[in-house]
Amino acid sequence: MNTIIKALNSENPDSVVIKEAAQIIQAGGLVAFPTETVYGLGANALNEASVKKIFQAKGRPSDNPLIVHISSKEELPPLVEYIPEKAKILIETFWPGPLTLIFPKSDIIPYSITAGLSTVAIRLPQNKIARALIETAKVPIAAPSANTSGKPSPTKASHVIEDLNGKIEMILDGGPVLVGLESTVVDVTGDIPMILRPGGVTKEMLEEAVGEVLVDPAILSEKALTSTPKAPGMKYKHYAPKAKVTIVDGELSKVIAAINQFTKEKQAQHLKVGIMATTQTKDAYKGDCIIVVGDRNHPKTIAANLFDTLRAFDEAGMDVVLAEAFSYEEIGFAIMNRLQKAAGYDIVKV
Ligand code: TXA
Ligand code: MG
Repeated sequence: MNTIIKALNSENPDSVVIKEAAQIIQAGGLVAFPTETVYGLGANALNEASVKKIFQAKGRPSDNPLIVHISSKEELPPLVEYIPEKAKILIETFWPGPLTLIFPKSDIIPYSITAGLSTVAIRLPQNKIARALIETAKVPIAAPSANTSGKPSPTKASHVIEDLNGKIEMILDGGPVLVGLESTVVDVTGDIPMILRPGGVTKEMLEEAVGEVLVDPAILSEKALTSTPKAPGMKYKHYAPKAKVTIVDGELSKVIAAINQFTKEKQAQHLKVGIMATTQTKDAYKGDCIIVVGDRNHPKTIAANLFDTLRAFDEAGMDVVLAEAFSYEEIGFAIMNRLQKAAGYDIVKV
């Protein structure tokens, strides 16, 4: 298949291109598009055959449900059985934005989207290209991250091209995304909202809006290997680059010393060593490939660059990657969740 690739201004997308993309969605095809979190791979959510194509193109396990994207709050009621009170507050506070909510599904949502579950994940993205596409297609759009299953989620159109060129009808290039990590997934079907996947909308932000918020214990590092997460997708070995990633955690000066020591040991075994450094620490290392993931004083920069950095180590042909750990506070919780998955939970404490 010849994949059409079109660049768009994310603030003012060309309506002719959006129309062309919307027609592909209506005709049952697949279009990759930017959202503020990561790029999504979209299909008409109400068409079973189109939804199946998403799973095929990504090589995604069929027991991993998809998020349904809408372009306005008015599109929500027909998709869900009811809207819990706390969900109403979260919607008013965070939509449009990087927050996905889990509702009891209505009958029009096919079970191929929810992987057989009676709940459905819904998100109203902020990105203007995403919203224009959904609005013009006049159907809710099912969209997982637009990567091959098991690879880091795409934060640039070039990542999508690398994974899906020739497998889908169209890719809309809206430039690099804003957040860089997938949306926060919150289950609002119980009395107390529960975070199933941490993301750009942090636990602290959610609690300020609705009071107590739980975190699915299965996503906390020490439990992640033994328990079954409530978001089926969280159980897969996501975001893993080809290189073996090890996280080094502790006081920063000790982390630097340990990474330099590990680098010497690995290089002695003729392994190529990549080091995921920060603005503050980059000059302290001597590896084969040192990449600054972001600024420790501005964790949002780390979130924005994390997946691109993991892909870059693969491109550079590294055998191992040594990564500094970050604080678990606020957005740091989501950053460390993704980094731990990339490392297969291999964390050295120093
Ligand atoms: O930021 C995002 O959320 C991006 C952009 C494209 O919107 N999408 C995304 O989709 O990350 P995906 O498919 O890669 O991740 C969806 C996550 C998975 O962990 C899945 O298991 C969970 O949401 N999920 C979907 N439906 C669910 C449901 N009914 N109950 C529990 N978890 C659900
Ligand atoms: Mg994904």
